[in-house]
Amino acid sequence: MTPPSSSPSQVVVDARSVEKSFGDGPNRIRVLKQVDFTARTGEITMLVGPSGCGKTTLLSALAGTLSIDNGTIRVFDHSLEKMSGGALTRFRSNTIGFIFQQFNLIPTLSVAENVGVPLRIQGVSSGKALKRSREALEKVGLGDRWKERPNKLSGGQQQRVAIARALVHEPPLIICDEPTASLDAKSGEIVLDLFRKAACSPDRAVIIVTHDSRIFSYADRISRMDDGQIVETTEQDHQQTPHFEHETPH
Ligand SMILES: Nc1ncnc2c1ncn2[C@@H]1O[C@H](COP(=O)(O)OP(=O)(O)O)[C@@H](O)[C@H]1O
Ligand SMILES: [Mg+2]
Repeated sequence: MTPPSSSPSQVVVDARSVEKSFGDGPNRIRVLKQVDFTARTGEITMLVGPSGCGKTTLLSALAGTLSIDNGTIRVFDHSLEKMSGGALTRFRSNTIGFIFQQFNLIPTLSVAENVGVPLRIQGVSSGKALKRSREALEKVGLGDRWKERPNKLSGGQQQRVAIARALVHEPPLIICDEPTASLDAKSGEIVLDLFRKAACSPDRAVIIVTHDSRIFSYADRISRMDDGQIVETTEQDHQQTPHFEHETPH
């Protein structure tokens, strides 16, 4: 999605030479090997690659939930590695909407209360948070399920709750790990349209990890990862409106 020419797209996520290993001694595995990665405002950047190549590890580092061994990560002009715990937590909750691969919903809260968590962290009153949470749930097609507990919902519905929670406070950076893994084509289309709308804004950026080729046409930029490194980045011009590829009927 090309932003208006008056607001050129800007690099707002800039990872350089990022390294991360897990384990010690002979069990040590290098998961991120000198990774360079950027994401820009007004764009959907997709990170694609085989299972186990380090995508979730990189996303966690970009979101500041995982510390890195070497390298630098700047997000909206903040160097994550220089921020202290409290400042990083505040920055993250105001700046990033993160959709985890395992949705991380809180089982004891209702669906609407789960969606409202980022607002409550920002100090929004419970009444206002509930109103905005219900609006966000409407947008993902779950307006009538707001009172229920997450375990009453299917995997795909829980994923949409997690997506509503990531979008409810309109963060400038949306990061999501495999957003369509549990979604049928119709729900996937609703969700991708929401991401696309967010990325149309000249001061917001969206990063999606996926191996779902049905959604590649939504990307403005695709970075391919293999064995802990970004091996290729390509830009896509949108000659046509992106769409969710429905499987060919049998
Ligand atoms: N906390 C961890 N401790 C040890 N190994 C990990 C941890 N997180 C990820 N790994 C390993 O790092 C590699 C990359 O994992 P991941 O980033 O989840 O890959 P992807 O998301 O591309 O499937 C895998 O071999 C995985 O087992
Ligand atoms: Mg993963």
